[in-house]
Amino acid sequence: MNQINEINQMNQMNLSPGIKTINPSILYYGTPVILLNTLNEDGTTNISPISSSWALGDCVVLGIGIGGKAFENMKRHPECVINVPGPSMWENVEHLAPYTGKNPVPVEKKKNGFTYQKDKYEVSGLTSIDSSLVKPARIRECPIQIEAKVKEVRIPEHSPYFAIVETQAIQVHVHQDMILGENHIDPAKWSPLIYNFRHYFGLGEQLGKTFRSET
Ligand SMILES: Cc1cc2nc3c(=O)[nH]c(=O)nc-3n(C[C@H](O)[C@H](O)[C@H](O)COP(=O)(O)O)c2cc1C
Repeated sequence: MNQINEINQMNQMNLSPGIKTINPSILYYGTPVILLNTLNEDGTTNISPISSSWALGDCVVLGIGIGGKAFENMKRHPECVINVPGPSMWENVEHLAPYTGKNPVPVEKKKNGFTYQKDKYEVSGLTSIDSSLVKPARIRECPIQIEAKVKEVRIPEHSPYFAIVETQAIQVHVHQDMILGENHIDPAKWSPLIYNFRHYFGLGEQLGKTFRSET
């Protein structure tokens, strides 16, 4: 048997050495935490910890559970602030973790141990500052704060419990000590808080940089 046939047969038999097929209950393979601020119906701001996001150009895409307050708020008022905390803020994030801004608490959330909390700033120990172009407030302590407009909300057919929310970043605020020159964030000073299979991590040492790096 030639080598390719042998590999194909091993794959079919799930016998690739060192690799096993599993059914993981979660697939959170290590993405930055964001604190998503949205506008409550009374004009106050709700804070939701989120790890499903990516950014390309001025587009920031979020994965948001449709049973939470963030989703309800963004549908009613299509603006948000994407606050990006650093590793030192993991306990502030975790203080928010068992709460929802939804009242009454949806059955599914109740089953998972969530309770209602109106004042997410109070419970997290974080500070509110006004945004400049959107109504939801920002979080002072987060080194990066992105004001954004909600552009598109799509619920995938195969996974109706989450929405893919496309936002457009319209203003970016950064702690001054992390800015390099005029318009760059210094990667030696900034680092994200990583959500790695429900555990919080920081970044390790720098390994190198890509050929397009400007810093
Ligand atoms: C670190 C962390 C990351 C999370 N990531 C997400 C996520 O990407 N999408 C999501 O819908 N919920 C995520 N959650 C769960 C929400 O925070 C949770 O549903 C919360 O109740 C949302 O608050 P809200 O109902 O007031 O919007 C995450 C929770 C934590 C602690």
